[in-house]
Amino acid sequence: MAFPQSFMDELLARCDIADVVGSYVQLTRKGSNLFGLCPFHSENTASFSVSTDKQIYYCFGCKKGGGVVNFIMEEEGLSFPEAVQFLAKRAGLEVPEEDGNREAGRRRARLLELNRDAARFYHQLLQQPEGRAVQDYLNRRQIRKAVATRFGMGASLDAWDTLLTAMTKKGYTKAELLDAGLVVQNKNGGLYDKFRNRLMLPVIDTRGDVVAFGSRVLDKSEPKYMNSSETPVYSKRRVLYGLNLAKKTKRPNIILCEGNLDIVTLHQAGFDNAVASMGTALTVEQTRLLSRFTKELVLCYDNDNAGKIATERALQLLNGAEFTVKVLQLPKRLVDGQYVKQDADDFIKFQGSDAFERLLNGSENGVEFRMAQVAARYDLTDDQARVAYSEEISDLLASLPNAVEREIYTTRAAGTAKIAPEAMKLEVQRAFKRHLARKKRAELRKDLNPASQLQPKERTLRYENIRSARAEEGVLRLLLLDESLFPASRPLEESQFSSPLLGRVFGLLWQAREDGRPVSLAALAGVLSPEEMSHITAVCQQPESAQNGGRALADYIRVIQKENCTDAGKDPLLAATEKYKDKKGTGGKQHG
Ligand code: UTP
Ligand code: MN
Repeated sequence: MAFPQSFMDELLARCDIADVVGSYVQLTRKGSNLFGLCPFHSENTASFSVSTDKQIYYCFGCKKGGGVVNFIMEEEGLSFPEAVQFLAKRAGLEVPEEDGNREAGRRRARLLELNRDAARFYHQLLQQPEGRAVQDYLNRRQIRKAVATRFGMGASLDAWDTLLTAMTKKGYTKAELLDAGLVVQNKNGGLYDKFRNRLMLPVIDTRGDVVAFGSRVLDKSEPKYMNSSETPVYSKRRVLYGLNLAKKTKRPNIILCEGNLDIVTLHQAGFDNAVASMGTALTVEQTRLLSRFTKELVLCYDNDNAGKIATERALQLLNGAEFTVKVLQLPKRLVDGQYVKQDADDFIKFQGSDAFERLLNGSENGVEFRMAQVAARYDLTDDQARVAYSEEISDLLASLPNAVEREIYTTRAAGTAKIAPEAMKLEVQRAFKRHLARKKRAELRKDLNPASQLQPKERTLRYENIRSARAEEGVLRLLLLDESLFPASRPLEESQFSSPLLGRVFGLLWQAREDGRPVSLAALAGVLSPEEMSHITAVCQQPESAQNGGRALADYIRVIQKENCTDAGKDPLLAATEKYKDKKGTGGKQHG
């Protein structure tokens, strides 16, 4: 980070956390904190808290936390400097230009410019005689010119350096072309075009920037699709193909498919609300992006096994999220006496868009889809199978968070199994109790094992010495709670902390204090990673009373000094056992 400290202090003073978070999450006051539904994971009960005193947020569910800058980083998917810019704009503050920062921004802008120029170049080639092969392919797939243009499609040629030469002529450097993933380097350091003899499909984000490329071969060779690698302007977790167009749809929902060309065909057929995750599983980042544009999602994955698994995974990810979720199941198609899978593109081609509209209107909701999946596994004419079905379906029904839904689908499941609704209700109630008991047991186990509970969630931050770490946490908590508790002279060195992270934070707080700056957690966003920040926030939201704070602080410091004393001052007995432990450790390794 390299924003001037005075600017950061001013920014934090102007961006109240409750204000900023409140424009994303509906917050309600409960005691001294504000609570709401966590925007970072799906939940029905509010475990996301905001403390206006400490200017931090923390989710008791997913354990994410931090200050206002961390919140924007996470919520908007921005880097630290981007989040600072974002907040500065919101607060009407001018960001002092800083070298490294300006440099990174310039680099991104340059890459986006290059991507746009490359897309234009590919698009022009498509109109020219050299692009004939790709145009023929588009014709074979019945993609109209206007639609190809709407998606900015293009052609890469069957040659090694067409793009390389053209973009170099435009003034882009080799480093920039490599950075953008448009050219690759061979063993001898020579460069060549990554995309050759392919239909080019620019990936355009919701701001309209060309962030990457997808591409398809024109024949049956492999790999069928080739996409840009991750670059400073492209993270595939955060982008959906076609959302730049679908965000403007007048339709009430957004359809999620697997393939790029499914999207093209759907848009061409009038379904301008289709987007694709480009062959990868749906991510949380993508669902957050979608939530800006719609309240209803329709999953339209392939009707083969892989597609069903993808649907199930997406349903789990979306369970309890703010979306209404439906599943559109494409029927298989009979070809020469065999049923074959078809995707949205095939379906539109063979059955037409009216048939697709009917499927869309009739698509079942997520629960119905999952129930049908279970039913399909049993032969419900067989008594034993009906018993087994009832057991499995009760488990599924018991996991539904909504009581009305539970009731409705229990009746339906009873119909499917041809048993009395009352019997099915009993079965579901029993399963519901089992679920509750299991949850309680899991919580109890956690309560009974405080050591594991105290450990940071992130493995790399694990505490080596829990006793000392608890005291180190206490020191930080107290100093952040009440600045007047800072001792006149520095009582501890960072090296005396058993946890490097806690030691580092102590050093940073002490430095802020010495510089006469505000001592706050939120100010650490630029120097700690989001995981570190989450952990420190978790530490700080644990209860600690400032009453008798001085005394408590002294106690904590004593524990730390005792636990981490240097060898010279070490209790001889303790030193001896440590040595013994060491030996045992090495011995064990030799034998194992
Ligand atoms: P599919 O193999 O289902 O292809 O991949 P498709 O979309 O039906 O393609 P067409 O109709 O033969 O052109 C689904 C998606 O998975 C990604 C692509 O985004 C593709 O659209 N994919 C597939 C890859 O990224 N790489 C591959 O090699 C294959
Ligand atoms: Mn296809």
